[in-house]
Amino acid sequence: MMIERTTIAAILFLSSCHGSSIFERTFNLLHQEPPPPPATSRFDVATRWIEQKLDQFNESDTRTWKMRYMANEQYFEEGGPLFIFVGGEWAISSGYLTGGHMHDMAKEHKGYLFYTEHRYYGQSRPTSDLQTENLQYLNVKQALADLAHFIRTVKSTTPGMENSKVILTGGSYSATMVTWFKRLYPDLIVGAWSSSAPLFAKPDFVEYKEVTGRSIKLVGGEDCYNRIKNGIESIEQMLTDNRAAEMRSLLKICDNFDENNDLDVWTFFSQISDVFAGVVQTHSKGSIEGTCKRIMEGEDDLTGMSNFIASFSGSSNCSEVSYKDMISDLKKADNNPNKMYRQWFYQTCNEYGWYQTSGSTAQPFGKKFPLDLYVNACHDIYGEQFNNKTMHENAEKTNEFFGGLNPGVENVYITHGELDPWHAMGITDSDKATMIPLHAHCKDFGSIKSTDTEEMKASKEKIAELVRSWLKPESS
Ligand SMILES: *[C@@H]1O[C@H](CO)[C@@H](O)[C@H](O)[C@H]1NC(C)=O
Ligand SMILES: *[C@@H]1O[C@H](CO)[C@@H](O)[C@H](O)[C@H]1NC(C)=O
Ligand SMILES: *[C@@H]1O[C@H](CO)[C@@H](O)[C@H](O)[C@H]1NC(C)=O
Repeated sequence: MMIERTTIAAILFLSSCHGSSIFERTFNLLHQEPPPPPATSRFDVATRWIEQKLDQFNESDTRTWKMRYMANEQYFEEGGPLFIFVGGEWAISSGYLTGGHMHDMAKEHKGYLFYTEHRYYGQSRPTSDLQTENLQYLNVKQALADLAHFIRTVKSTTPGMENSKVILTGGSYSATMVTWFKRLYPDLIVGAWSSSAPLFAKPDFVEYKEVTGRSIKLVGGEDCYNRIKNGIESIEQMLTDNRAAEMRSLLKICDNFDENNDLDVWTFFSQISDVFAGVVQTHSKGSIEGTCKRIMEGEDDLTGMSNFIASFSGSSNCSEVSYKDMISDLKKADNNPNKMYRQWFYQTCNEYGWYQTSGSTAQPFGKKFPLDLYVNACHDIYGEQFNNKTMHENAEKTNEFFGGLNPGVENVYITHGELDPWHAMGITDSDKATMIPLHAHCKDFGSIKSTDTEEMKASKEKIAELVRSWLKPESS
C-alpha cells in the first residue's frame, strides 16, 4: 500500500541533500497515483505486457512497444465482466486490484480486474528517451487507442471472455480518460466511473487557486485564510521595497534566487501556492487543520507565514527557487522510470493548459504567478512551437474534439470532492454528477465502510447499483 502523503511534514521529508526543490516535491505530490485503498485480498497480482503500436493512427508505421498492465483473475468466472482501473500520469501499482470499491464490485460480479499503465509513464515507455521529437506520440488520443486495443486483445485471447462486458474506473486525469473513452469507443464498454475528472481544457485555470483558498477557509477557518493572504502580501511588498536579501534569509531561499528576474519571482510565488494546493488536493481529515495550526503559530501574519515557508528547506539550509534550474530539470530527457513531470508538463502545453495561475483576485496567494510563467516554461522546455497563441489553440482543439463540459456520453458516473480544486474544470451539475461534501481529490475509491460520511456511502452505493444495472443480461 502506498503511503498517503497528506501533511506538510511529509512533504518536507522528501527533501534532497543540498538545496531542496519545492517544485519537484509538490509536483510529485499533486500528480501521484491516487493513493490505493488497503488490501483486503492477498492474491498475488500478475504483471503482464501487451504489444502496442507506437503510432495508433498511422497504418504504415509498424513500430511497436510494450505496455505494462496488472491483472487479478481470482474472482473471474466464464462470461464475467472486466473491471479496468485506468492509469494516468503515474506508475501503476497493485493496490487497486486487491482492495477498494472497484475490487469489491469485481468480487460481487465474478469479474476480472485489470490496471493499465498510460504510455510514457511508469515502465510503459514507447521511445528510447523523452526528446521533444519523441513526445509526438504522447497524447490522450494515442493512450485511448492503446486502451481500446488492450480491451479488444484481452477479450479475444482470454478463454471465457469473448462476451464479457467492460467497466472502466478512473481518477483525476484517468477519470477524464474514461469519460472520453466512452465518447470515442461507446461500444467497447458498458459504463464507467469517473472520479474527479477535469473535462474542460483551459490554459489560465484561475479557478484552481480560488477553490484552494475557499477550502482552506471552510476547513481551516477565516483566520488561517487571512494570515496566508496578508503574509503573501507582506512578502510581495518586501520585494517591491528592495528588501530581497532580508526576504531570502527570512524564508531560507537559496542565493541563486534572482529577485530582479520576473521568472524567478513568479516561480517562487507559484511554488508557495502549490504547497497549499498539495495540502488541499490531498486533504484527509486533519491535513488542512494541521497546516493552519502551524501557520497560526507566530505573533503576526508575516512571522507565521515565513516560518512555515522557511521550514520547506527541511534538513538543507535553503530551498532552491530558480526558474532556470526548474527548466533544466524539465529538459532532462532520459527515461527515468521515477520521473513523470517532463511528460505531464508536455501534455499540458500540448493539450490542456490547466495552469493554476494567480489570475483571480478571489484567492489568497497574491498576484505573482501569471499564465506567462507557464507559457515561457513550455517554450523554454520543448521549443518554439509553444507560445500563448498556440497553447490557447491547443486547448480549444481539445475542447472541440472531446466536447468540453458536454462530452455527450451515457453511463458514466461522475463524482467530485467539494474541497477539490479540480472540480472547477469538471461537470458538477447536480443532475449529472455527485459532489461529495468536505472531501478532496479522488477520495472515494475505498471500500464502503462504517466511517464513511453519509454522502460518501450513498455515492458508493449508487455506483454499485449502476454497475448492477449495466451488467444485467439484456432482455430479449
Ligand atoms: C506514417 O509512417 C510512415 C512510415 O514510418 C512515415 O513515413 C510517415 O511520415 C508517417 N505519417 C505521418 C502522418 O506521421
Ligand atoms: C546556505 O549555505 C550556503 C553555503 O554554506 C550559504 O552560502 C548560504 O548563504 C546559506 N543560505 C541560507 C539561506 O542560509
Ligand atoms: C494570450 O491569448 C489569449 C487568448 O487568445 C488572450 O486573451 C491573452 O490576452 C493573451 N495573453 C498575452 C499575454 O498575450
